[in-house]
Amino acid sequence: MHKVSLKKIHDLKKRHIGITSITAYDASFAKFFDDLGFDIILIGDSLGEVIKGDKNTHNVSLKEMIYHAQSVSNVVNKSYVIADLPKESCSSHRKIISDSVKLFNTTRIDMIKIEFNTKNIGTIKRLNDKKIPICTHLGLRPQCVKRKSEFRIYGKSKKERSEIIRNAILAEQLGAKIILLECVSNNVVKELKKLLKIPIIGIGSGEMCDGQIIVSYDLLGISFNKFPKSINRDYMCNDILESNIKKYIKYVKKLPNEC
Ligand code: KIV
Repeated sequence: MHKVSLKKIHDLKKRHIGITSITAYDASFAKFFDDLGFDIILIGDSLGEVIKGDKNTHNVSLKEMIYHAQSVSNVVNKSYVIADLPKESCSSHRKIISDSVKLFNTTRIDMIKIEFNTKNIGTIKRLNDKKIPICTHLGLRPQCVKRKSEFRIYGKSKKERSEIIRNAILAEQLGAKIILLECVSNNVVKELKKLLKIPIIGIGSGEMCDGQIIVSYDLLGISFNKFPKSINRDYMCNDILESNIKKYIKYVKKLPNEC
């Protein structure tokens, strides 16, 4: 199988074939998911939570993103690889551009994901002009979340609904090539599917999106988060992992007696 291109991802949308996406932070998992045939692998700044054990994504540095993006992108041969621009890089227009160029040029990633912000919207066009493809992230934006109450579904009120729709259209017009919608209501997704040409990848945003993304450790059932409510528990892997690892521990405990 050839490397997945942006064109292929856009084609999957046109052909109504779901775009499969998962996060990875290291070479071994990245290779495993690449071999399994995921269309997209994201080096998410969720690494702050699942790798570093932080409460949120806020303290992930550009240096850490580059380290993990190199580990992943060096071994992936087929999947399309996207990396998050961390919160620390988004303090100014200028820093978004210079840090994105650094992240893109020091790794083998194919695209950068930036959480949408009306103040920094012009950067999508600037990065596009520099031939750095951008995915924009709308709805629940973890880098902006300050309170637990902000972990909710976005777009239920008329005001929020039109704001998400307006921003998604604007992002597409400025050159965003993929939209990631996190925790966005089904009605908004339905509307956006009619209005946008670019693919919508969802997480907690219902089954109508063009593709789905999941945090790998959530799917494996080993993250600090609860298993996502929106995913059928049949896909959870931790029972198998747990029982085989327990079997291994038992085996090692008994070894000295047996040999
Ligand atoms: O950082 C991350 O893992 C994300 C998720 C929404 C997939 O952005």
